[in-house]
Amino acid sequence: MDYLIARFVHILLIAAWFGMTISGKQRAQWFARENLAKAAPPEIYLRKASVAGSLIGLGVIASGFWLIHLLGGFDAVPWSISLGFAASLAIVLIGGLMIGRNWKKLATRRAAGAPQAELEAIAKQVGLWERAVQLLWLVALVSMVFRFEL
Ligand code: HEM
Repeated sequence: MDYLIARFVHILLIAAWFGMTISGKQRAQWFARENLAKAAPPEIYLRKASVAGSLIGLGVIASGFWLIHLLGGFDAVPWSISLGFAASLAIVLIGGLMIGRNWKKLATRRAAGAPQAELEAIAKQVGLWERAVQLLWLVALVSMVFRFEL
């Protein structure tokens, strides 16, 4: 039963993690294009998204470790689970360093009245890094579901 609960929590959290990559890209484009007077400041979204993203990411890793523990430790699970774990760490790094940093840049440049084209270029960077995260997420998904060995 513990295993099923851990797997349920794990899958719920990975779904939420992927969902954030879709809305993140759209929001960056929206903040770059939207009328300043109408839109909520990007810093508010950034704060909420970084807290939610970090908590969900930690939850994915914690539920993964819970599953590994229930299965008998790292030695008892296939090699590809470690690959998925590595992909998850890369997602956390990209989220914090590349996506978070570009969002901060978008917020400060927008507040400074930067031209539309510059804001859209920053939003595009956010979108590209979100795509990289989606690819890594897919690598983790394939390696967790197919559980291949070398
Ligand atoms: C983007 C990140 C991740 C995705 C998309 C993902 C996806 C999945 C999915 C779909 C399953 C269920 C597989 C099945 O029942 O057939 C699973 C199981 C599992 N995941 Fe993850 N996972 C991720 C991150 C992690 C991390 C970070 C760890 C370890 C710290 C981890 C460890 C495990 C383990 C041990 C299982 C159980 C495998 C088994 O029953 O043989 N996962 N994962």
